[in-house]
Amino acid sequence: EKGGYDYFMLKEIAEQPKAVADTLLGRIDLAGNLCLDEVRIPASVLREVSKVVIVACGTAYHAGMIAKYAIEHWTRIPCETELASEFRYRDPILDQRTLVIAISQSGETMDTLMALRHAREQGAKVLAICNTNGSTIPRESDAVLYTHAGPEVAVASTKAFLTQLVACYLVALYLGQVRGTKWGDEILSVIRELSEIATQVEEVLETMEPVRELARTLAGKNTVLFLGRHVGYPVALEGALKLKELAYMHAEGFAAGELKHGPIALIEQDVPVVVVVPSPRGRSVLHDKIVSNIQEIRARGARTIVIAERGDETVAPYADHLIEIPATPTLLQPLVATVPLQVFACELATARGNEVDQPRNLAKSVTVE
Ligand code: M6R
Repeated sequence: EKGGYDYFMLKEIAEQPKAVADTLLGRIDLAGNLCLDEVRIPASVLREVSKVVIVACGTAYHAGMIAKYAIEHWTRIPCETELASEFRYRDPILDQRTLVIAISQSGETMDTLMALRHAREQGAKVLAICNTNGSTIPRESDAVLYTHAGPEVAVASTKAFLTQLVACYLVALYLGQVRGTKWGDEILSVIRELSEIATQVEEVLETMEPVRELARTLAGKNTVLFLGRHVGYPVALEGALKLKELAYMHAEGFAAGELKHGPIALIEQDVPVVVVVPSPRGRSVLHDKIVSNIQEIRARGARTIVIAERGDETVAPYADHLIEIPATPTLLQPLVATVPLQVFACELATARGNEVDQPRNLAKSVTVE
């Protein structure tokens, strides 16, 4: 049932190109427009949305953080992403024009369910992004967009995360499409690039041997830090979460711009720091800023593990280990940048002798608040 792999997690990492392709299937028409009629929220309602609020937990929350960048950029609708467990306790401001998006692989996470119940009580519309047909969260929502990742068995979420991202991009682009923003051309070109992503994820998977080797050499470390900016920041958080839950190591993700406000004090000789570098094209200011962050930490002795676009020559001199990923538009980069971090965590956990599919103290779906 593990299809020749030692662990479900390895199998599920390998299934990501297919999971991504399946989640796009039938949702883009021949003219390159999105068709999400299945969501069954009328375009007239979507045109009236004045605020989007995303609620989720754990890895799904990281997908939601990335979705915020995409939704605000392509639709200009204000969007906030909140941990489902915090949401209802702060008496959030919601009304009929609020679209709440609840993201959940299992569809049974109690924190997320309670958040969406609260949102519906306040009159908000709830759209679920979910991987499990007929589970509680989609049943209790106004609408659902299923991710087609197939069953995810390993406790650590991998292919569900990538498909949650795809679903979030589809929702963001669809909102942009029905509302007609000034980004119309960009939306069409991103839809095209999204169709290429499964192949790019495949390419990443084919180049993972050096990442596995590197992970094995770090098995004796106590701490690994992760840095990113923009959509690379949630990717850093996701890399750290994977390492915590699988390798039981101290792992922390930071927004690179926050380094100088405290975390840089953690940098000492030989501490591994993984840095997610945005594309040098497009938002080049961000790119230049992160290159100077890498220089700063390296000057203080950090061992830099840099995830950067293939052909990005500016970062190479400061990378002790360079992990190259294919070129994508910045907003889509998490789909390719997260994969090496999954492989890294899985290999490190194995090297430490941990049970990869069933980490200690964790359950696949958390059905208590
Ligand atoms: O089933 P859900 O997507 O609602 O689960 C949310 C989190 O519990 C889940 O993503 C958790 O953080 C994973 N173990 C992360 O790998």
